[in-house]
Amino acid sequence: MNTLTIRRPDDWHVHLRDGALLQAVAAATARQFARAIVMPNLRPPVTTTAAARAYRDRIVAAVHQDNQDSGSTAGAEFRPLMTAYLTETIDPADLELGHREGVFTAVKLYPAGATTNSDAGVRDLGAITPVLETLERIGMPLLIHGEVTDAEIDIFDREAVFIERVLAPLLQRHPGLKVVLEHITTSDATDFVRTGPANLAATITPHHLHINRNALFAGGLRPDLYCLPVAKRELHRLALRAAATSGSPKFFLGTDSAPHPREAKESACGCAGIYNAPYALESYAAVFEAENALDKLEAFASEHGPRFYGLPLNDGTVTLARRPTPVPERIAGLVPFHAGETLGWQLVT
Ligand code: DOR
Ligand code: ZN
Repeated sequence: MNTLTIRRPDDWHVHLRDGALLQAVAAATARQFARAIVMPNLRPPVTTTAAARAYRDRIVAAVHQDNQDSGSTAGAEFRPLMTAYLTETIDPADLELGHREGVFTAVKLYPAGATTNSDAGVRDLGAITPVLETLERIGMPLLIHGEVTDAEIDIFDREAVFIERVLAPLLQRHPGLKVVLEHITTSDATDFVRTGPANLAATITPHHLHINRNALFAGGLRPDLYCLPVAKRELHRLALRAAATSGSPKFFLGTDSAPHPREAKESACGCAGIYNAPYALESYAAVFEAENALDKLEAFASEHGPRFYGLPLNDGTVTLARRPTPVPERIAGLVPFHAGETLGWQLVT
């Protein structure tokens, strides 16, 4: 088999940023995906329907501008799906209105201090009970960065501890709430999601399928492989690969592509985030092929996500061709995931 044609996929978790960085990265996602769930952790965060509508317009404009500059039409039909950044003071009525008007697709919960631009996030889950009740009532998904922020907890244990202390009780309190545990990194998470209720699902990134924590220190400190949640031990990577390729509808594609300017990565206090958008499908295809599961890629990339969100599947297809695909060291000044490597598949249409 030298080509692989699948229904057009979506990215259920991406950071597109704003301003010049948005202009530099938006087209990469638009070329690969029909739709993407866009994270709201801008400065200031996206907390209102008006702000989300304006941000959505800026994303669409950036893709169009790129198409004009490059003379390409790839990605012209890209649809950003917007999320609201949950704060303790957010207005549930505005969220509900934004959802009804088709502006907000989901709400993102960052525990305060867990990651990039999360300071405005939630400290006390009790404070947002009315918001969670609204989400549960209207069927709007809650997307969770699942790490505790307690400095006493070892950073490699923060996801597992979050599941036990925060997520399990939350699901008990709100049994009808649709929850996506984002960018899972552990076998604790794959087990919890697989055996959990149907309203619980998870996204899996390409990088957590490819690297374990050794990669962060291979021959020296590797800032481009630092992300949050940080990559874990090999046994966890293997559990993620098994989950992604299992065919279970509870696991779907979410790149967590999170570009940062060079100086923010190469710094005494470098930012978390891996920029994987330009070769995301190629990167996932490498994993599915190595696991002898290329027949499961379409469902993971194009079916499980929309079914969970209650959205239509995309029309149309994309084709990957089996050919050596060198990944550049830099794209628009950013270091992409797999920089300098050669991947075995290439997205051709
Ligand atoms: O690595 C990450 N980068 N993880 C996150 O949760 C946030 C993201 C970012 O915005 O840079
Ligand atoms: Zn993210």
